[in-house]
Amino acid sequence: MGTRFLPATKSVPKELLPVVDRPALQYIVEEAARAGLGEVLMVTGRNKGAIEDFFDRTPELEAALENKGDADRLAAVQASTDVAQVHFVRQGEARGLGHAVLQAAAFVGDEPFAVLLGDDLIDARDHLLEQMLAVQARHGGSVIALLDVGRENIDKYGAVAVEPGPPGGDGDEVVRVTGLVEKPPVDEAPSSLAIIGRYVLSPAVFEVLRETPPGRGGEIQLTDALATLAGRGEPLHGVVFNGRRYDTGDRLDYLKAVVRLASERDDLGPPLRAWLREFTAALPDDSASSS
Ligand code: G1P
Repeated sequence: MGTRFLPATKSVPKELLPVVDRPALQYIVEEAARAGLGEVLMVTGRNKGAIEDFFDRTPELEAALENKGDADRLAAVQASTDVAQVHFVRQGEARGLGHAVLQAAAFVGDEPFAVLLGDDLIDARDHLLEQMLAVQARHGGSVIALLDVGRENIDKYGAVAVEPGPPGGDGDEVVRVTGLVEKPPVDEAPSSLAIIGRYVLSPAVFEVLRETPPGRGGEIQLTDALATLAGRGEPLHGVVFNGRRYDTGDRLDYLKAVVRLASERDDLGPPLRAWLREFTAALPDDSASSS
């Protein structure tokens, strides 16, 4: 429901809030397309019609930009829809992430597939999804993305128990996942490694999800279904991510993502960096004034 961004999210789905000049969701679709996944199914819910509109063509707008000779903006508008083939399905009732993934069963069929959660933005320079696809191709089963969030934060995530994994390539560390628990109390967490919003899953997960009872928060949890698969001896690996990730569902992280991504862009970067240097130099030192 996007409660952390109210009142903005009264009428704009949180996934469409702009990160610099494109919706958070566009970065996610671009990430999938870069990894070679050009067929994207969005699992949405009520009040998310604006998302369908965003990924639709806009012939009137495109014609107006063309008539004005505004080639750059025309290219940006067209790129937002040409990047992937986007399909939609509605979840109907918000019964949890596992239930959302289950809505994709008919679309996916009998092949491995990726799940990308809209709140997690992975920097385009870090090739997390590509690495996960390579691990899945080599070892089969399913692969999840992990991040060390520190013990104190683990109760906001799915937490995992791991063992050293097979020797990997030159990317992030690969581990074997032996146990999973959704949002455990800090003192019961198996480690400080959290599941972040990228999964490459075996289609076997659908049959397990259909049998998975509501878990934490009364919701059907993907984490619980993956625990069942791992318990049956299906391969489950984790890629321990070392790169840049932003939780755009969190206001402070969202602001950091906007500033960081804008400051690194060719067009906005130079003037923004110059302004940031002046701005930060003039900031009061909070640590000094509070001590
Ligand atoms: C979901 C998953 C959780 C995972 C998190 C990553 O939780 O259930 O296991 O750690 O995404 O963002 P949510 O954030 O939807 O509560």
